[in-house]
Amino acid sequence: MWSSIGTIAISGIMLTAFALPLRAEDSPGAVLFRSNCVICHGGDASGNTALGKKYKVRDLKSAEAQKATDAEWFDLISKGKKPMPAFAGRLKDDQIHDVISYLRELGKKQ
Ligand code: HEC
Repeated sequence: MWSSIGTIAISGIMLTAFALPLRAEDSPGAVLFRSNCVICHGGDASGNTALGKKYKVRDLKSAEAQKATDAEWFDLISKGKKPMPAFAGRLKDDQIHDVISYLRELGKKQ
């Protein structure tokens, strides 16, 4: 009796642990993206916002945008590229990597 309750409890914990990383929208990168990037790039990274259209930003999920290497994106995000601001002073290196992983996840879903 008790052992089966234990098994159920443990499998519940394990399911939660495995389910979490699958939700890209809840990852640290997604949270950072929502607070720093959506104003221009949009919630879905398509660039479909007033500023995104004004600046003609590419869909970050698109194959052309995804062609860039992680190192190129890291460089661009930390240094900025006018009119995109530099994020080096606002985000730590790890946080920039988290955002890049999130953008890669979005790209894969295309
Ligand atoms: C003020 C508006 C603005 C904000 C905020 C902004 N961006 Fe950008 N971003 C741009 C513009 C404009 C470009 C296109 C620059 C160019 O190529 O001329 C761009 C380009 C990019 C590219 C390269 C896309 C391509 O065309 O290959 C990436 C990746 C990117 N941004 C990521 C981010 C991330 C991540 C954040 C948040 C940490 C962010 N941006 C915040 C305006 C913005």
